[in-house]
Amino acid sequence: MGKLIVILVEAALELIPTSIADHPSILHYKRKKGKRSDQLLLDRAYHHFAMKHLPEAEKRGRPDIIHLTLLNMLNTPLNKRGLLECYIHTREDKVIQVDPEIRITRHYDRFLGLIEQLYTLGEVPPAAKPLLKIEDSTLAQLIEKVNVTKVVGLSMHGSFRPLKEVCEDISQLPRVAVLIGGFPKGQYKKTHLQLMDELYKIYRERLDAWSIACRVIHQFELASGISF
Ligand SMILES: C[S@@+](CC[C@H](N)C(=O)[O-])C[C@H]1O[C@@H](n2cnc3c(N)ncnc32)[C@H](O)[C@@H]1O
Repeated sequence: MGKLIVILVEAALELIPTSIADHPSILHYKRKKGKRSDQLLLDRAYHHFAMKHLPEAEKRGRPDIIHLTLLNMLNTPLNKRGLLECYIHTREDKVIQVDPEIRITRHYDRFLGLIEQLYTLGEVPPAAKPLLKIEDSTLAQLIEKVNVTKVVGLSMHGSFRPLKEVCEDISQLPRVAVLIGGFPKGQYKKTHLQLMDELYKIYRERLDAWSIACRVIHQFELASGISF
């Protein structure tokens, strides 16, 4: 049976940049959290005013996208059957490898704490089998490493193709990567678009990344005959 590799691309996940570390809202936030700004994640929900002049601000500071997407992807029959691999590629070219057995906390603040610990230590949990690992890697390097037969990108800018058809196709392959943008607005970088063999729009309106991930996995399960 084919394996599905889902990569969240250019995910809006990063530590607070030093260029805004002295903004009053960041100073207040780091005092409240009791950490240095370079140990805290940038989050538009808390840092809207501090980050609004950053380059590509509309594509940055959304750890909630990663949280919700992981929650939706991991609690699926496909993952429980060992047929799903999830990776988070961040906009700064870091890659988070996700162990399929991890139970992601539903509590958002605890999730932020876990990812901040991951950035500091390189893997978590600290004194047990690592369930999340982070390393420097471009998307091209990740795609080479996961060794897939096809790379399918999903985007509002792709050509329209019903998801059922896409999944009937890709479920025939032994290993296929589906790429979903981990950012709230905008388009993939050109260099990333060049890594995709096909680019599809699967619904006429824009949906959130976690909703797309959930629909892809479910349709892939249907096409593979593991859910009905
Ligand atoms: C909130 S969207 C980002 C918006 C972006 N303008 C785009 O090009 O799709 C996050 C990701 O969800 C996926 N997505 C959202 N709606 C989609 C659709 N109708 N068809 C295919 N992919 C979609 C894409 O991978 C997109 O990068």
